[in-house]
Amino acid sequence: MDDVSLEIPPGAVVALTGASGSGKSTLLHMIGAIEQVDAGTVTVDDLEITGLGRSALTRYRQRVGFVFQRYHLLPALTVLDNVIAPVLPRRGRADHAARARELLDAVGLTGRERALPAQLSGGQQQRVAIARALMGSPGLLLADEPTGNLDSATGGQILDLLLNLRDRHGMTILLATHERAIAARCDRLIRLGDGRIVEDVDLTDGEDPAATLQRAAGLRL
Ligand SMILES: Nc1ncnc2c1ncn2[C@@H]1O[C@H](COP(=O)(O)OP(=O)(O)O)[C@@H](O)[C@H]1O
Ligand SMILES: [Mg+2]
Repeated sequence: MDDVSLEIPPGAVVALTGASGSGKSTLLHMIGAIEQVDAGTVTVDDLEITGLGRSALTRYRQRVGFVFQRYHLLPALTVLDNVIAPVLPRRGRADHAARARELLDAVGLTGRERALPAQLSGGQQQRVAIARALMGSPGLLLADEPTGNLDSATGGQILDLLLNLRDRHGMTILLATHERAIAARCDRLIRLGDGRIVEDVDLTDGEDPAATLQRAAGLRL
């Protein structure tokens, strides 16, 4: 990243776009405290995460949902256990299982709870990764091309789910995407080029589907 400065208000849904190699994943990893910054600061909810020690960082990561570009499911665990995994250290196994089933239903995977990741298609694994990221009811969701392996109808449904969670719980969402139809439904579009922000546009004008389509056609990703 080079000279990147941005502020995202709580509850915003932001599309992060830019060519492959432009730095989308790196930026998400830095905000999620998965990669360290060499210089500069990242502050989330008044907490400067770039200055935190190990145990404070672990607590911070538990509050953030992360959907990895390559899913990173645990191959030896079933779909259900993969979704539960992030909250395993916490009490209440039965409640966790019920919530995990709800989330799997929301991403369209009811009936696949006992499958292993290798038995699923890429798109199904991606949806497990999305359910897992939502398991801890995060206030911040960082999603790295979360619909990249889904057909456009399924991708649209996943975005419906995320927007619905934002509306109900005020979750803030930053998602990397190459898809116009996804980006056009976000509140804001930030485009990266060679590690810099080259465009930052507000997309919040009206809820009219026709306006969204028109906006999608005009977006440079
Ligand atoms: N851990 C790393 N250390 C050094 N360079 C990296 C690392 N991860 C990615 N890069 C480089 O940083 C640039 C941005 O990569 P990335 O964030 O993966 O882009 P995008 O997600 O937009 O495709 C690329 O040139 C990539 O090779
Ligand atoms: Mg990437």
